[in-house]
Amino acid sequence: MSWIRRDFLIGGASALAYMRGVRINAAPRFPDNPFKLGVASGEPTQDGFVLWTRLAPFPFDEMSGMPLEPVVVEWQVSSDEGMSKVVAKGSTIADPTMGHSIHVEVSGLEPHRYYWYQFRTGSEISPKGRTRTLPMAGGSIDAARIGVVSCQKYEDGYFTGFRHLSREDIDLVVHLGDYIYEKKGKFYKTRTHHGGTCYTLEEYRARYAQYKMDADLQAAHAAHPWAVSFDDHEVVNDYAGADEGNSDPTDEMTYRRTAAYQAYYENMPLRRSAIPNGPYIKLFRRLHFGNLLAINILDTRQYRSEQPCYAGKKVERCDEVFDQKAAMLGKAQEKWLYDGLRSSSTRWNTLAQQVIVAPRQLSENRYSMDKWDGYEIPRRRLIGALGDGHVSNPIILSGDNHRHWVAELRSKPEDQETPVIATEYIGGSIASRGDGSEMTNSGRRILKLNPHFKYFCDQRGYLLCTITPAQWRTDYRIMRYVERPGAPIETRISFVTENGRPGAIQV
Ligand SMILES: [Fe+2]
Repeated sequence: MSWIRRDFLIGGASALAYMRGVRINAAPRFPDNPFKLGVASGEPTQDGFVLWTRLAPFPFDEMSGMPLEPVVVEWQVSSDEGMSKVVAKGSTIADPTMGHSIHVEVSGLEPHRYYWYQFRTGSEISPKGRTRTLPMAGGSIDAARIGVVSCQKYEDGYFTGFRHLSREDIDLVVHLGDYIYEKKGKFYKTRTHHGGTCYTLEEYRARYAQYKMDADLQAAHAAHPWAVSFDDHEVVNDYAGADEGNSDPTDEMTYRRTAAYQAYYENMPLRRSAIPNGPYIKLFRRLHFGNLLAINILDTRQYRSEQPCYAGKKVERCDEVFDQKAAMLGKAQEKWLYDGLRSSSTRWNTLAQQVIVAPRQLSENRYSMDKWDGYEIPRRRLIGALGDGHVSNPIILSGDNHRHWVAELRSKPEDQETPVIATEYIGGSIASRGDGSEMTNSGRRILKLNPHFKYFCDQRGYLLCTITPAQWRTDYRIMRYVERPGAPIETRISFVTENGRPGAIQV
């Protein structure tokens, strides 16, 4: 039965409930619509997913306009868009300590099908979202389709790409990071960040709220389940490391990371296993599409050692690049990844990660130290793991760079005579860098210096990947402008990687 037509489930005398001595408001009243940040789903499995929303009637006010008390939120999952065939429902608590966000872990559903969901709190009903379960584990499937996005600097452009993404026929959106940017608002940009540079939990919450109020972003969340990971700007530009070895537990960065990771969890459709522990959060994990595809979602930010050679953007490589102790993924994540790759039985094995893996000479002997180029020893271990003949069809998905690229990774990355062992598809940004242009001088120079790079484009968009047993196809979905709304999108170019033959072939 639809919520619209029936009375409140909880009301009257039971409006105030108590849970372990804490007053819970089961019939909250709101000064304005509490669902301004939209709805989302994520972390799909073969029988469920996470449902997310965060209550915020006045997103930029203290406590986002919410009272300092827990409130009850009801949720429903239906197998039809009209919400008439409810297959799961329940209620949960939106708590002030979690910014009144909720993360409902739904299970027991059927594999590989669409579901619709909706929330209610008090007399307020949320917009509807659609989501999808993954195929049966180990089962054989004909095709999987995923959208790959990153880098949505609100100031640089409209989120038109997300409107287009919401209309794509895909199973999953993979977000590779830079969901927000932390810097203060500047009046001369396409759109203006609300408030100052983010340091505190309240400031990060408000920044997420501003991004999440964008109707195009909301549409993409409401249309598909997402699997997210972060990069640097969810905390601060180009930061490195958060593990105990790298951080002073009382320094300012540690407090900032604590605030930023908390706000990240509150605003993403993540499982309870990702609830942060102070300045630490566990994000690396794996999703399976039957026996076709495994996606290893990596965190290349939290466990890395400091960028070498004074962390320059464009420097000659110093001895530190070859530091035996340098870390990119950190010991635990590396072991988990390499064990998982070795024992995987899926045809395609994907790394969904942040910074470019293939070596990329920017100009004569100059490299960016924030990428895997600054971490040669960890990169050699990665190449060893991907290229030892045990991993079926490795594909690397990368973000961070804001330009679209295609690269082939060789067993000795800078020796064009050695065999290609993996293919790297690098997605441009949703908004970061604004309109851009199809080709630039630096793009031309880098393609020339690095023959293993096959494509470059400095315009905005996302990747659409169609994976079948026979091939991986990546469509580069690109727009000509984002500094004004409404750009159409086109498949500018497509590449395929054939089963058993690493490398990218333009089609
Ligand atoms: Fe970015």
